Amino acid sequence: MKIKISSGNIIKYDAQVIVVNVFEDEDGLSGQLAKLDSALDGEISRLIKQKEIKGKFKEITPIFTLGKIAAVKVLIIGLGKKSEVTLDKIRICIAEICQYIQSKNGNSSLEIAYLADIAGFDNSELGQAMSEGALLGVYCFNKHISKKPDRKEIDTLNIILPKKLNLNLFTSGVNKGIICAQAVSLARDLVNEPANYMTPSILTEITRTLASKYNFDIQVFEKDFMQAEGMGGLLGVAQGSNELPKFILLKYSGSKKKTLDIALVGKGITFDSGGISIKPSENMGDMKGDMAGGAAVIAAMTAIAQLKPSLNVTAIIPATENMPSGTAMRPGDVITQKNGKTVEIITTDAEGRLILADAICYARKIGAKKIIDVATLTGACRVALGDICTGVLGNDQTFTQTVISAGDKVGECMWQLPLKEEYKELNKSEVADLKNSGGRYAGTISAAWFLAEFAETTPWVHLDIAGTSMTDKAKGYYQKGATGVSVRTLINLVLSLAPLENV
Ligand code: BES
Ligand code: MN
Ligand code: ZN
Repeated sequence: MKIKISSGNIIKYDAQVIVVNVFEDEDGLSGQLAKLDSALDGEISRLIKQKEIKGKFKEITPIFTLGKIAAVKVLIIGLGKKSEVTLDKIRICIAEICQYIQSKNGNSSLEIAYLADIAGFDNSELGQAMSEGALLGVYCFNKHISKKPDRKEIDTLNIILPKKLNLNLFTSGVNKGIICAQAVSLARDLVNEPANYMTPSILTEITRTLASKYNFDIQVFEKDFMQAEGMGGLLGVAQGSNELPKFILLKYSGSKKKTLDIALVGKGITFDSGGISIKPSENMGDMKGDMAGGAAVIAAMTAIAQLKPSLNVTAIIPATENMPSGTAMRPGDVITQKNGKTVEIITTDAEGRLILADAICYARKIGAKKIIDVATLTGACRVALGDICTGVLGNDQTFTQTVISAGDKVGECMWQLPLKEEYKELNKSEVADLKNSGGRYAGTISAAWFLAEFAETTPWVHLDIAGTSMTDKAKGYYQKGATGVSVRTLINLVLSLAPLENV
């Protein structure tokens, strides 16, 4: 989908479909909407009067123009109450309207004109939300289907700005939104890909291609390095699989200073069978998505490298499969993590924390001033928060709040769980320094406490995306399958830590 921006008269626009917004508490049509209404002989105001159009959030009403104007059809989209409109509602509405158009319209490619008559928002942020909503709304993963379903694609979305909006600001926002939406789509692609097409080696090769395309550094380390570094967690999880583990390091340097401002750590389990503590077979296939955290940090790096904030960012992705075999780690085994702490393996299905612990130690070793990790870590988080909120925990309330705000701003909501001292003892072992499972209760918190043991004094935030990384139904700008959640949070977080951009 191409996105064009112009300011002009929507009625004269030679597009097949024209889209306009109405609010639930609209008091009379004005401006271009009023002109469109009179060109349609008052049809819009008539429908509003008859309560056919209520302007409720996500309500779509088609009006056929019967040759009165160039467009064949006008779609009226409700944005809800004026005082309750948010950028995320705008993102959701434009996604749903694009989906609606693609499901209804003829078989040729389409040109849409959308009148962006929405006041009260920063014009750049409005442009960003609109392009993100449109692009993410039409995302689709069908590369493994031989006969592609008959899907009509929107060829061009023309966003028409009323004069009161700032064209330059809006355009720069749209361009930023395109970069962010592409990053989210990339993360979705990586997560939706079946595990036989997304081994640690394949993930590495894809990431190499991205690094050269977007111009950031990449280093990929093999088993010998992991041994030298004492990464017993990553090696332990990997030892059951025939696929070789990889330790992927991505580096973006936006500042001349030598400091590493933030490390983004992503869980890269390309398939989680549970290992010897094997999972039940029902829905086990979903565990192809257990590298969603890794995908999110890789995708965020592609956007960061394009948006060029003035700070230094390193992404770390420990990548391996978790498989059962004659060489696999056993429950009862004791492993040694990179920082020397020993861990009793209660269950081989609590593998994420083992590979993340080594990665977090590495982030500290290379001097990261802040660490954020993103992981599909616990089923317990999905039980607690469903697919709406990402779980967030951290050892530094200021940094945690910064992350939550960065997410709120882009419509990725999070809910903080208490990393209270009292929970720490859940991970106490009788045979080692720690155990890798704190039991059924407070599972998300004990998993986070495990990681906290390795973050030590570095300000660190943990995002548990086990519930939010995939969805079982399309909703707003999410399609069934991978959501790409936390990519936009990470991008926005990194930009917010470096307010002065070096353009
Ligand atoms: N990858 C899973 C967590 C998960 C569950 C992600 C559902 C997405 C959807 C993780 O490795 C895991 O298996 N966690 C265990 C930990 C437990 C054994 C302590 C869990 O949550 O059951
Ligand atoms: Mn697991
Ligand atoms: Zn897992």
